Amino acid sequence: MLTLRTPSDKLSRAGRTPPGRVLRRRPNTRAWTRARSRTALAALALSALLAPGAATAQQRELNLYSARHYQTDEALYADFTKATGIRINRVEADDAGILARLKAEGTASPADVILLVDAARLWRGEQEGLFQPVKSAVLDKRVPTHFRGGVAAQGAQWFGLSTRARLVVYDKSRLKAADVDSYEKLAAPALKGQFCVRSGSHPYNLSLFGSMVEHLGAPATETWLKGLVANMARPPKGGDTDQIKGVASGECGVALSNSYYYARLLRSAKPEDRALAEKVGVIFPNQDSWGTHVNIAGGAVARNAKNRDAAVAFLEYLTSDSAQRYFADGNNEYPIVPTVPVNDALASLGRFKAETVPIAKVGANTALVQQMLDRAGFK
Ligand SMILES: [Fe+2]
Repeated sequence: MLTLRTPSDKLSRAGRTPPGRVLRRRPNTRAWTRARSRTALAALALSALLAPGAATAQQRELNLYSARHYQTDEALYADFTKATGIRINRVEADDAGILARLKAEGTASPADVILLVDAARLWRGEQEGLFQPVKSAVLDKRVPTHFRGGVAAQGAQWFGLSTRARLVVYDKSRLKAADVDSYEKLAAPALKGQFCVRSGSHPYNLSLFGSMVEHLGAPATETWLKGLVANMARPPKGGDTDQIKGVASGECGVALSNSYYYARLLRSAKPEDRALAEKVGVIFPNQDSWGTHVNIAGGAVARNAKNRDAAVAFLEYLTSDSAQRYFADGNNEYPIVPTVPVNDALASLGRFKAETVPIAKVGANTALVQQMLDRAGFK
């Protein structure tokens, strides 16, 4: 669904937002966000921006199309503006809405930089020619190779900025962890009538299933998908939190959820949310094989960016230690930079082995996966 903000009343100009007001909402993060990000910025490739002749009027602003809608991001944008003088004009929509808008706008698009929250969507944007390759020593150093898109020799078309794990959540009173500690086991006949999941066509599932194609091959993945359908407790419906609730209520024995939905319940101010999280078991699947599937939120420079240098500097800024911590924490995600600490809720889940399949291949498999879902009757 497209929920674009209009310039008159909704287009948020972070540079006009009084930083104090934004930061007072998060007093515990104020000091390090301000101080450390400026230090980190100094280490980034801003020299090009600040060099004589480079800072034209055009480069003093940046048009951001974002599928992220977290209040905490406001402080990040304000800090970038404070450090660079570059004002951020923000347009918000969901992933599909942003891609549709970029296509519709074509060469007239004012977009400079784009933030999306799924690898398959980033891959789609690349295929549709909506991004441009970026060569950046900072981004190459900070973002692991398997979380970048495009042809390496020409520069990446997009960069992961945070990750989320696709977890197994299960009813501890009905199942043992060993019954459900891999994605493959979710299709075991012993789990008949117990599996719950959101729509198979949702990007989170398309990406998981696309990674299974890389690990198992297409025929075995299709057989596995048919096994999942045979095990369903109910037709796919709702979001990931609804699957966790289904497990807690006893309707489902086992389900899939992104890690941040579970962490959000753990950190909730509502006791009933925390009780929900504590009631269910949670597993990082496939620790004895290829590792748990992870998806990304990521960024790209728009094909027709008029403020290209500012766009690259912004992506580089988002990979600085302080920005990474803040960016990931806003949605309980894992920083893309492996050395940056995770928040307390994620830390309580422990460390895990993540798959290292190139996330761009996962995106490329999603069209094939959709055909498999149709054949398997996976709604
Ligand atoms: Fe989500």
